[in-house]
Amino acid sequence: MAMRIFNKSISDEEYLYQQLDPAKLPTHVAIIMDGNGRWAGKRKLPRVAGHREGAESVRTIVETAARLGIQHLTLFAFSTENWKRPKIEVRALMDLLMEFIRQEIATLKKNNIRFQMLGRSEGLHISVLEQIRKAELSTFQNTGLQLNIAINYSGRAEILDACRELAREVAEGRLQAADINDEVIANKLYTRAMPDPDLLIRTSGEMRVSNFLLWQIAYAEIYVTEKLWPDFRTAEFYQALLAYQKRDRRFGGISLLQDATAPR
Ligand code: FPP
Repeated sequence: MAMRIFNKSISDEEYLYQQLDPAKLPTHVAIIMDGNGRWAGKRKLPRVAGHREGAESVRTIVETAARLGIQHLTLFAFSTENWKRPKIEVRALMDLLMEFIRQEIATLKKNNIRFQMLGRSEGLHISVLEQIRKAELSTFQNTGLQLNIAINYSGRAEILDACRELAREVAEGRLQAADINDEVIANKLYTRAMPDPDLLIRTSGEMRVSNFLLWQIAYAEIYVTEKLWPDFRTAEFYQALLAYQKRDRRFGGISLLQDATAPR
């Protein structure tokens, strides 16, 4: 569909893009990519076909985020609970991840994108880990978009690992319990040195956070869309960003836009 603005025809996508305020883009966007299975089911295709089409959405959203100058993009690709899926689906997801990383390394390098995995390495096949480490090492110096892919990830496990590490440091006398604060904990998470997500997007209409970045999303704005992940492309991403730009973020305080003396 096209729109006519000032007598000039432009696409919906271009129209949405023009509404975006480049000065008010989120620094960190996190996405729960959901609905691949339903996308495939609607078309009477195997679930794997949905994941494959979902990988195309990943390519598009990474490209769009980099082009917009967003600094951090974190995608939930495989949770520690996903091992419970049928073996054939787990295998297909791992193959897709490896294929994506292998195919995209050159593009990531060319576009100054830094790649990092968030998650536990234990449990991942050595070939998957090698591919991940190779991509991490070869993009380490890049200064543009930081692309984090959560693989074998659980928010609770991440916090648990951080607690264990802090307890060890206290037991060994390297840290005082009284010195543990938000910053000390945040520095033990996979996301250390990254700002918390400003915007958390979830596709396919489910109203859950599903054990994703539990510590980090404390003040994230949540955007849920009915679109299934394989249908979530540039225009849908712009819509999410526009919704975010309309939010009034208060971080537990009061709105800077409101009169602080007005009755509430
Ligand atoms: C949820 O859909 C999606 C996943 C469990 C995996 C996400 C994986 C991809 C998008 C493909 C590969 C990833 C990368 C980074 C290249 P679902 O299967 O739970 O869908 P359903 O709820 O409709 O069954």
